[in-house]
Amino acid sequence: MLSQDRKEELKKAVKYNPKSTPNPILKVIRSIPSIYSVICRVERYLSKKIANKENKKFLEENINLFKPNKFEKTHIDNLKKQGYTVIENLFNDELIDLIDEKANKLFKELNINDSGYNVSHGRIPTLKNFTYEELEAFEQNITLKDPLVNITEIIEVCFNESILKIVSNYLGYIPSHSSIIMRNFPQDEPVEASNFHKDSDERDVVQVFIHLIDIDGTRGPLTYVPNSHRHDSKSCIPRTNFDLGINEIYGRVSDSEVEKIYPKKDWVTFYGKKATVAIADVNGFHKGPNWDDFKDKNNKYRDTIRVNFRGLSFRKQNVTNNQKIPKKNTEQMSKLQKIFLKFYIEV
Ligand SMILES: [Fe+2]
Repeated sequence: MLSQDRKEELKKAVKYNPKSTPNPILKVIRSIPSIYSVICRVERYLSKKIANKENKKFLEENINLFKPNKFEKTHIDNLKKQGYTVIENLFNDELIDLIDEKANKLFKELNINDSGYNVSHGRIPTLKNFTYEELEAFEQNITLKDPLVNITEIIEVCFNESILKIVSNYLGYIPSHSSIIMRNFPQDEPVEASNFHKDSDERDVVQVFIHLIDIDGTRGPLTYVPNSHRHDSKSCIPRTNFDLGINEIYGRVSDSEVEKIYPKKDWVTFYGKKATVAIADVNGFHKGPNWDDFKDKNNKYRDTIRVNFRGLSFRKQNVTNNQKIPKKNTEQMSKLQKIFLKFYIEV
């Protein structure tokens, strides 16, 4: 058991002192919602029509494989209309329990990627020198190493045909595909992605969250702002903390900025039973994990499979994840599933 003093020492060591250093040109652009909106929409148009031209053509050539059934069509329509959709009963509890049992063991054994906010922000060089209890005390999240190799049962979840069809039809092209298993630890206050943000202004990003445990307010659900995913002028009004010169909250967007434009009563929080699937266009405002009360001592970690779908950017660098997947598990895959294998390395 970690002492309170050690916990405080670790938290202090990674304490983030944000600096208000927004790019001055972007700051001006973002202060004029109509211009900010036009620039974002032009960039996304160029991403769709030019950067993803081949991916669009490929979808059209294989349109029969991607033909949605009535159930899938409903979820494509939900995504278009509101930016998110929730699917229940797509996976059975036994499968999800088995995955979480294996994930729990691997997390405790620290079979994890040497990454995370503190490493990527340069606050610490590595996660390697810490015990599980120490990481729990100061790290916002940890992710499993080679999840598709170490827990092959997640392959049928991450390559679920309905999910592949819903997202590809929603985007209108074949997006890139990557998969992670993530454990989020409770924090005393909203840090990093627990504050509102949009994932990208220049390309499509859709994320699929599959709960591995029952998610209530003590498990840090995701909160989403419906209809904020189109980069219309309205969605370009809320200003980031950095743009407003406020240093406290990581350069994300405060609840009060979002609430001025989108009433809190309309925000959606994805509580739900394990195995619930939430698909979100994360270019709409979202934050998570979002514990109902960050100070609640009963708060616990959240385990999630997250499948990331991204379009290619017209302007920014495009990175392929090249995650590993066991060859013996791909042989029986359908033609549709195999299309997404190009984003993986078969081992
Ligand atoms: Fe995000």
